[in-house]
Amino acid sequence: MTQTEQAEVAVQDTPLIPIEKIVSLCKRRGFVYPNSEIYGGVSGIYDFGPLGVELRNNIRRFWWWSMVQTNDNVVGIEGSIITHPRVWEASGHVENFVDVLVDCKKCKRRFRLDHLPPENVQQNKCPECGGELTEPRRFNLMMETYIGVVEGDKMKTYLRGEACQNIYLDYDNVLKSSRMQIPFGICQIGKAFRNEVTPGNFLFRQREFEQWDLQFFVHPSEMTKWFEHWKEFRFEWYKSLVNHKDRLRLRPHASDELAHYAKQAFDVEYRTILGWQEWEGIHWRQDWDLSRHSQYSGQDLSYTDPETKERYIPWIVETSGGVDRTFLNLLLDAYEEEPDPSGKEPRTVLRLHPWLAPIKVAVLPLQKNKPELVEAAKGLYKQLQRSMVAQYDDISNIGRRYRRQDEIGTPFCVTIDFQTLDDQTVTIRERDGMTQIRLPLAEVKRYLLERVTWNY
Ligand code: GAP
Repeated sequence: MTQTEQAEVAVQDTPLIPIEKIVSLCKRRGFVYPNSEIYGGVSGIYDFGPLGVELRNNIRRFWWWSMVQTNDNVVGIEGSIITHPRVWEASGHVENFVDVLVDCKKCKRRFRLDHLPPENVQQNKCPECGGELTEPRRFNLMMETYIGVVEGDKMKTYLRGEACQNIYLDYDNVLKSSRMQIPFGICQIGKAFRNEVTPGNFLFRQREFEQWDLQFFVHPSEMTKWFEHWKEFRFEWYKSLVNHKDRLRLRPHASDELAHYAKQAFDVEYRTILGWQEWEGIHWRQDWDLSRHSQYSGQDLSYTDPETKERYIPWIVETSGGVDRTFLNLLLDAYEEEPDPSGKEPRTVLRLHPWLAPIKVAVLPLQKNKPELVEAAKGLYKQLQRSMVAQYDDISNIGRRYRRQDEIGTPFCVTIDFQTLDDQTVTIRERDGMTQIRLPLAEVKRYLLERVTWNY
């Protein structure tokens, strides 16, 4: 077995991580906090702390780069959260965006009917206490809001239930203003809101979350080709991000699972302690969206081919994933507690891809009471800070400082020691293998940049 194969086996064999470990790390180290915590919190809503916002921005930026900036036939937009209420009638959300619920008459717990084990549905029995369940009821997930200042004259609308609707609304403007021709795509990253009946499992199912979408507009005769292309592209994209490639799969939807707009769908799924769960949906939306918006708005959204003059409503391939679910899955994928051969506490390490790691490098003077070391370390820190997210740390002994950086996923630590003062070299320690090399100070920036940033 080669070294690479051995490393892969080691990664595959690590146990699935309980969500609680990630929740605890996130709070302790400043990735994620419960929203409005001092008031007791709001279920399914979270805030991101100093490290969380860096990680989140890196995740978003990587998606944007690989979907918009490096695909010639894709452009980006950023739409608003609030739209005209008719949008949600046309999209089918007012009518169809519902969960079917049952309540237990005995323990009063509430369940989504589609989440209950089949035997409980058949026997109409609560999975928790065995009590009798109520008749199923339909519950709409759209969050309502009101626009206007005059009481009684306010217009009821909705916080968007899926971010992609802006793309259909702006499709015609993009076509006219950007010289795009079919086939082409529009991307967006943005917040979505759902009154989830059972929010939970930390960032997995929230009421306010962020989605990334590609809507790719095609001639109907090319739908199969592009659907296959984007399915493959997105699956490979996720594969490039995770350590545990065996925990990733593509699963086709059964006909009774399809959303109201989809004729066919695949989920990119990732296996965690929660089992196999959706990470991103790839949907064959056909002409549903543009036809419905044409019908409801009275605006013709058909496309005329500039060469053949054929007029048609474009069909749509959608790839729609969650920024927050990516955040959570990447932490679950990266988190590891490694036994320490010297018998001390296990090392907690976040094996995040260096491109995504919130802090790229920590600069550490060996001792903080030696002004010459501090001065050299601060000089390097200030220099690196201009090109990458860096952290200066001189609190506690060097071993503890390495551990702290491992736990937040910092791929490199640079230590300034007494030898630095003599020969202008530093130690660079790498997170995963804890290997150390010595490099001249003048080469540190280039060395790190090659490893922590992708090529633009
Ligand atoms: N426009 C299609 C659409 O919204 P979806 O499968 O409902 O499809 C797409 O959502 C992605 O958004 C999911 O794969 C998931 O990553 C994320 N997502 C959906 N609901 C979520 C929630 N309540 N909390 C966090 N992420 C969610």
